[in-house]
Amino acid sequence: MRVDVVSIFPDYLSVLDLSLVGKARQRGLLDLRVHDLRDWTADRHRTVDDTPFGGGAGMVMRPDVWGLAIDEVLEPGGQLVVPTPSGEVFTQRHAEELASAGQLVFACGRYEGIDARVAEHYRAAGVTVRELSIGDYVLNGGEVASLVMIEAVARLVPGMVGNPESLVEESHGAAGLLEYPVYTKPPSWAGLDIPDVLLSGHHARIARWRRDRALERTARRRPDMIAALDPADLDKHDVALLAELGWVPGDDGGLVRA
Ligand SMILES: C[S@@+](CC[C@H](N)C(=O)[O-])C[C@H]1O[C@@H](n2cnc3c(N)ncnc32)[C@H](O)[C@@H]1O
Repeated sequence: MRVDVVSIFPDYLSVLDLSLVGKARQRGLLDLRVHDLRDWTADRHRTVDDTPFGGGAGMVMRPDVWGLAIDEVLEPGGQLVVPTPSGEVFTQRHAEELASAGQLVFACGRYEGIDARVAEHYRAAGVTVRELSIGDYVLNGGEVASLVMIEAVARLVPGMVGNPESLVEESHGAAGLLEYPVYTKPPSWAGLDIPDVLLSGHHARIARWRRDRALERTARRRPDMIAALDPADLDKHDVALLAELGWVPGDDGGLVRA
């Protein structure tokens, strides 16, 4: 998979040399290229921004500079990702979709963001443009948001994570639940013992215990995810536990609070 990141702070992206993403680059699983937007400027000051039409505070990034950069970097069939707090909120579903793209180009905004015509222009040209937010808060620039999305996408690229099984039961996976609590050695620490069932070696009981804890944790922390579950995916034990937790089938087939 090819990933290009365009930023006025290319050094910010140097962390992409580390950890699993760095290893994936070394192993050739990820062709990751970082570009300095200012390389596409033509003036002495390497200007990438200007004052906003209509007035107001701050500066806006110029579409002409971005256009030159994207035209050069974007390959046929590549997708353009524009991190912005006004975008759709990025989720694991987006990560899964992005992981199947041949190329992703991340356009890191700064100041008040990128002139809106950039996304409009590439969309009109038939490019898949995704304006995505990593959450309801405002950062100074798109670099951190791009790093978040690149890491979430890259770990889904085949071969990237040593044991693909570890992706299956994770939070926000196909089950639509948060992950159960996890423990390792020592079995007793700070007066806290791990649950006995995890030492039982009884796979079915461990699986049931984990599913119950995942349901409980999700109900407590993310009731929106319980409401989004498909009752067809629940077994009798799930239904009984959810009823104890105050969730029952509603008229429209979904789960509602009792
Ligand atoms: C200061 S922000 C601009 C905020 C913009 N004026 C607004 O109110 O929507 C500068 C850049 O940071 C990035 N950014 C900030 N918050 C973000 C978020 N929650 N998700 C994704 N990108 C974000 C975007 O690239 C954005 O263009």
